[in-house]
Amino acid sequence: MKHIIEQVAQVAGYLWQKGWAERNGGNISYNMSEFAPALNEIPAISEPIAIGLSVPKLAGGYFLVTGTGRRMRYVESAPMDNMSIIRILPDGQHYVIVAEKDIRPTSELPTHLLVHNFLQTEKPSNKAVIHTHPIELVAMSHNRAFLTKDVLTHLLWSMIPETRAFCPKGLGIVPYTLPGSVELAQKTLDELHDYDVVMWEKHGVVAVGPDAVEAFDRIDVLNKSAQIYRDARAMGFIPEGMSTDQMNELKQAFNL
Ligand code: 13P
Ligand code: ZN
Repeated sequence: MKHIIEQVAQVAGYLWQKGWAERNGGNISYNMSEFAPALNEIPAISEPIAIGLSVPKLAGGYFLVTGTGRRMRYVESAPMDNMSIIRILPDGQHYVIVAEKDIRPTSELPTHLLVHNFLQTEKPSNKAVIHTHPIELVAMSHNRAFLTKDVLTHLLWSMIPETRAFCPKGLGIVPYTLPGSVELAQKTLDELHDYDVVMWEKHGVVAVGPDAVEAFDRIDVLNKSAQIYRDARAMGFIPEGMSTDQMNELKQAFNL
């Protein structure tokens, strides 16, 4: 457990260093259910709290979650003063806080838990969910032309070969929806069937990964492409992008 908490704290630091985590921007969760035997011994330190939706596959499970209003830079320096561990109750609709302090989970908990509920059976090797505000990707979501399905995916893939290699499913798009809402959670889930990273228009992204570092890297490679695109435009030209032949060659060579 210590290793997981340390890694989430390390990634929270990356989000701050990248400039993607202004004030309390962004949140991270990690599925700790493998530690249930030990965590079952810990008494609840909060009353049952409604999740706002149903996550039956997570009943009895445990999640490390960043606290609402907490700053990523302090998650890095004092992890358990800014995160809590929650237990999902048997009804799959409420949770209690078990550790270490009564720190209320992120306002994006509906998205985190609905996504974990999906991962449990559909992508079980993925334990981490990150929501963050990567500057250049969010900027690109202000251009309606980029919001049509897979337009941005192909543009970002074509900026540098690694982006397709390390984010082979591309970037799903969720049209602007109120932060923290159940509607946003459900729309995110719809996109996750096809993608590992999803853009929330004019807000941020959500990524899943086997651990916090892998989820972070999926966002980082996409945002690197967005930066290359921006820099080419700032130099006064529209970047050519890799050709279809070059992309197909890459797809075959890397078995993507
Ligand atoms: P929290 O502080 O509640 O995690 O909210 C941050 C955020 O980015 C909401 O989208
Ligand atoms: Zn946000």
